[in-house]
Amino acid sequence: MAIPRSFIENLRMSCDMENIVSSYVKLKRQGRNLAGLCPFHSEKTPSMVVYPDTQSFFCFGCGAGGDVISFIMRIENLDYVEAVKFLAQRVGMTVPEGETEDRASRMKPIILEINRLTARFYHDILKSPDGEPGRAYFAGRQLTPKTMVKYGLGYAPNTWDALRNYLKEKGFSYEQMAEAGVVNKGRSGSYYDAFRNRVMFPIIDLRKNVIGFGGRVLDDSKPKYLNTNDTLVFKKSRNLFSLNFAKNHTDGRLILAEGYMDVIAVNQAGFENVVATLGTALTPEQARLIAGYAKEVIIAYDSDGAGRKATDRAVGLLEEAGVSAKILQMRGAKDPDEYIKKFGAQRFKLLLDGAGNVTAYRLGDIRSRYDLETPEGRSGYLTEALKYLATLKSPVEREVYAGELASQTGILRETVLSNLEWEVKKNFRREKKKEWQDIASSRELYGDRVNPQRASNLSASLAEEGIIAFLFKNPDYLARILEKTGEEQFVTDFNRKLFHSLVEKLRLNGGAALSDFAGELSPEEMGRLSAIVNRDLPMTEQVLEDYIRGLEDAKCKNISKKAGELSREELLAAVRELQRKKRES
Ligand code: UTP
Ligand code: MN
Repeated sequence: MAIPRSFIENLRMSCDMENIVSSYVKLKRQGRNLAGLCPFHSEKTPSMVVYPDTQSFFCFGCGAGGDVISFIMRIENLDYVEAVKFLAQRVGMTVPEGETEDRASRMKPIILEINRLTARFYHDILKSPDGEPGRAYFAGRQLTPKTMVKYGLGYAPNTWDALRNYLKEKGFSYEQMAEAGVVNKGRSGSYYDAFRNRVMFPIIDLRKNVIGFGGRVLDDSKPKYLNTNDTLVFKKSRNLFSLNFAKNHTDGRLILAEGYMDVIAVNQAGFENVVATLGTALTPEQARLIAGYAKEVIIAYDSDGAGRKATDRAVGLLEEAGVSAKILQMRGAKDPDEYIKKFGAQRFKLLLDGAGNVTAYRLGDIRSRYDLETPEGRSGYLTEALKYLATLKSPVEREVYAGELASQTGILRETVLSNLEWEVKKNFRREKKKEWQDIASSRELYGDRVNPQRASNLSASLAEEGIIAFLFKNPDYLARILEKTGEEQFVTDFNRKLFHSLVEKLRLNGGAALSDFAGELSPEEMGRLSAIVNRDLPMTEQVLEDYIRGLEDAKCKNISKKAGELSREELLAAVRELQRKKRES
């Protein structure tokens, strides 16, 4: 299992951070560093920074950070060993044999075999007399026998042990079945079939492995669908239902539906290029997966409120992944399955070809809420539509739609345009302000594992970080800084550790580079240190004074706040300190 340290170090040196990250994220140079949209949370302005000097990254928006291996672990959803293998393959290195024969790689083929047998078992039952309830259900949904075979659909009988006994006979242990997710372990320690009296949808990956299952009830009981939980071979956030069929028929265009039945109905109607997520909303990983097969996606979600919300989210994620989104607007049916049944494949094709772009869809949505016959309606529509148009990135698109707004409402084009311009400026200012607030406050603190004391000591931390950054960039100030402050003044342990280590290095070598810290700090801590010293703050003596004073103030405030918890001696010391400060100021 353990991969030799020397190999990891070699690998790190062979993987250029900038190169690896830019294969996922468009990076823009910012001085010595690079910035891009963070792939680990949803955002419109770039807050992830890549530091070539230290071969690390850090997101000011969500706090994700680390080295190249942690980046791959997160973005490819791999564990450590898998990420190392992934990177090694990419740069043409071979992970030393024998070292990676871990449990996971022994278990995966077993789980895949269990899944394959399970799919076959349920499919055979569907075709047998016992499969009548399943056949009746699928027939009711107008699936042809051919479709049932194509998708390997099945029926899980209404028993607790049919599958369990079958797999046992094939030589698998209950533990193995449970690890594949097809059998559950009860409280009493006994094992039972996970899917009972459900029609079954095997989930098949691009290598034709059965990696998991969805199972639907035959009536209106709940939960409607059961899906395999994540296993060693199945990550729902990384796979798409029916991509195995869709991938060869995309024509640069994929249809994204909401679930199993929509996909199968659309596919049966002759459109092979349709996929769906697996019991979750679209994830960033799935959006990137799609980007590998299509330039354009037609979103065909339900036309209800939940569907609209999911549509909005999907549009954002797809655009971030570089895929343009169109939206299917179905009238007279709630989802593609129903639409095709009611109106047929031909009309569905027309609907697909006429799918509007996102802007048209949104404007139509806004417009439907106002009565354009009245002045109030027109002005309400115009106000809301302008607010929306102002969020568009392309100036050309903004202008085109502004022109349309003008003619719809009968208001002068120039007037519409100047109002739009004003909204755009307002947004820009708001975004800048928010960006700054994000950095200074909660978003970055959220789940702060590197410096857990930061959240409750924000002003002290900001002062500490300012002092560290100043000293890092101005090493000849060491003596002067130590005259006025010291590590005992630091409130948060993490920043104190950084300060201590920096002072030591400066004493020893007269200077310090980020890479000097790599040995003692974890990748996440490295990310934070780079963030601190790279933060774009003015570096004047006056600013330094403010930080030092700020740290003292923060510390005193902290002490007076916590007075009740202090020992007598500590309290006296704190009071003396406060008196000294009063005298000085
Ligand atoms: P829907 O409730 O819209 O189902 O859920 P549907 O596709 O219209 O299903 P039918 O037509 O009633 O058979 C859409 C998707 O959400 C997930 C499933 O992946 C489903 O395909 N889902 C829904 C669940 O995972 N669990 C549920 O209980 C319900
Ligand atoms: Mn449906």
